[in-house]
Amino acid sequence: MPQIEHESSAETNPESEWFGARRVKPEEKTLLVQNVFASVAWRYDLMNDVMSAGLHRFFKNRLVALMNPKAGQNILDVAGGTGDIALRCARRTHGKARIVVCDLNPAMLEAGRAKMTGEKGVSSIEWMTGNAETLPLPDGSVDTYSIAYGLRNVTHIDRALREAARVLRPGGHFYCLEFTSGVRRGLKPLFDAYCRIVMPPLGQWITKDGGAYRYLAESIRKFPDQPALAKRIDAAGFGETQWVNLLGGIAVIHSARRPGLPSAR
Ligand SMILES: C[S@@+](CC[C@H](N)C(=O)[O-])C[C@H]1O[C@@H](n2cnc3c(N)ncnc32)[C@H](O)[C@@H]1O
Repeated sequence: MPQIEHESSAETNPESEWFGARRVKPEEKTLLVQNVFASVAWRYDLMNDVMSAGLHRFFKNRLVALMNPKAGQNILDVAGGTGDIALRCARRTHGKARIVVCDLNPAMLEAGRAKMTGEKGVSSIEWMTGNAETLPLPDGSVDTYSIAYGLRNVTHIDRALREAARVLRPGGHFYCLEFTSGVRRGLKPLFDAYCRIVMPPLGQWITKDGGAYRYLAESIRKFPDQPALAKRIDAAGFGETQWVNLLGGIAVIHSARRPGLPSAR
């Protein structure tokens, strides 16, 4: 009797990952996410402003205020895209910190480099192509690690968190800014409707890629809520994990410290 072959489809494969609302093979997710950002790179900043009515600037300012970057530090901004976090760090340190923007997508980095032409203090920024899961940096070489709206897009979140712990020096600080599924109850239906109904057509209008913004909206729904992410940060080897909700939990900043020397702050 012929044997029935059971194909391991992405739907049933326990190794599969969420790409928006559907399960795909891990290597497929990385590729699909990169297609999204390659497609929107040159309109990404404009879209952020329109989509959030400028609020993303406030969230990023809060992140950098918490990071409190100082001259002489090594700062790594992972999934740094067009360099908004790096630019804020460079301004606050008057170009006297070493700031590396690492991102998997060359088009996003290129758009970032182009927008900074003529800006003061940005010569201290290095642009690096690299994967958050396998960072091209030595162990313990970073004082402050940040990732803004990036972790949600990474294929293996726990691998990226372990890499963050690896590259940070003992006592170094970790920061993650994300949208979350853990929005305050009264706001949740509004936020969900905005993501579902407004974001994709707006994305289609501005970037000509509504699908990209459908993915981004879905990826927010699938991202762990605040306590669940905090547990995963702890499990990656961090301590002192905490979070601060912004605007009723629409965005959240998690922070943590790599155990070791006492914090200098
Ligand atoms: C939503 S954008 C955020 C960009 C920037 N941090 C900001 O706040 O504007 C997400 C970025 O994550 C990058 N990304 C996705 N997966 C990545 C990975 N595995 N390693 C590094 N970067 C990644 C994308 O290329 C994209 O530039």
